[in-house]
Amino acid sequence: MRYTLIFLIFTITLFATNGEMVFKSYCWGCHHQSATAFGPSFEEIATKRSREEIRAMVSDPEGVSKVFGYKRNAMPKLNISDENLTAITEYILSFKPKGKK
Ligand code: HEC
Repeated sequence: MRYTLIFLIFTITLFATNGEMVFKSYCWGCHHQSATAFGPSFEEIATKRSREEIRAMVSDPEGVSKVFGYKRNAMPKLNISDENLTAITEYILSFKPKGKK
């Protein structure tokens, strides 16, 4: 039990640092954590999208932005690894304001 907990904390920390790195190298400039930039803020995204939706959007912005209701797709497809995709998805979701679903 104790090991599970340590492992869990370890993975969460790992995701947090990786996610932040992915954010700074690929997303920053177009997205900010809490302010709207060229694209919506992570706080806004985390509030209205699920984990699967975020993953889908980052993997295929052209196809998914239409589904999300954007008329024009301005987000480019970024070739990021599956590992980084998981990290950035968790990072975005960590901005979900407390108490909101
Ligand atoms: C060149 C600018 C640019 C970059 C770089 C970029 N985005 Fe975007 N992103 C946008 C824009 C603009 C939109 C609005 C939809 C569109 O135009 O396609 C968007 C939309 C999104 C959405 C969906 C928003 C919604 O309505 O829920 C997600 C999720 C997202 N971006 C995540 C990311 C992540 C994660 C990265 C980095 C790995 C990233 N974006 C990099 C510009 C960018």
